[in-house]
Amino acid sequence: MKQKLVFLTGAGMSAESGISTFRDSGGLWEQYPVEAVASIQGYERDPELVQKFYNERRQQLSSVQPNEGHKLVASLEDKFNVTVITQNVDNLHERAGSHNIIHLHGELMKATSSRHPNDPNCIVTLPDDNPIIRMGDKAKDGSQLRPFIVWFGESVPMIEPAIEEVAKADILVVIGTSLNVYPAAGLLNYANEHCKIYLIDPKDVPYSPTLGIHHIMKGASEGMKELVELLKN
Ligand code: OAD
Repeated sequence: MKQKLVFLTGAGMSAESGISTFRDSGGLWEQYPVEAVASIQGYERDPELVQKFYNERRQQLSSVQPNEGHKLVASLEDKFNVTVITQNVDNLHERAGSHNIIHLHGELMKATSSRHPNDPNCIVTLPDDNPIIRMGDKAKDGSQLRPFIVWFGESVPMIEPAIEEVAKADILVVIGTSLNVYPAAGLLNYANEHCKIYLIDPKDVPYSPTLGIHHIMKGASEGMKELVELLKN
């Protein structure tokens, strides 16, 4: 039987594709106040600004490509039973060929109801050639369409399936997340005692030394190349 390999990815996974991280110097939250564009209060205060922000993010997404790191994550499906848990709202893991993906913080290419954002009947995929939400566009329940993004102040419904996956992992690989945002950052604590944990990040990331993490201090692509070699042994 294949070993279970679970990835937990963050913004650093997509950095080499040209998508800014959030908290690095020059990151997105330096350019836009996080509470204005990524909180439910911000959306209620100024929905036009928030729609514009995510419309721009979607347009940027159509101009970038998965990087070598995304591709190597997908390639490991040959030898392992792989699940990708991502905090990223881009679709670069999908486009690189990964099949089992849990999006903890929503998906940029989807839109949903402002009234019931987690109602599956209201979630729609935006067209690739014009992925724009306009004020006045309506969800199935008649409310304004909004980005299908989990904002600060909202619940994270996908955390439960993510916990189940991490708890079953033989190998957990954390890539490109500053582990600042909960509940995602708490997922490491659900790894079982036999699980081997790797971290790929060019910088130091705060984690408990008791987890015995093997830190590959490299970017996502170079780090994934090293991991692939390590997993051969
Ligand atoms: P952060 O911006 O907080 O952290 C990015 C991490 O990626 C840092 O640890 C960097 O050192 C690392 N990094 C930078 N370049 C890298 C590279 N080339 N390869 C690998 N790692 C690299 O992003 P997240 O931890 O993903 O949520 O942020 C978590 C959540 O906070 C996001 O999902 C978003 C944000 O607010 C929402 O918008 C709801």
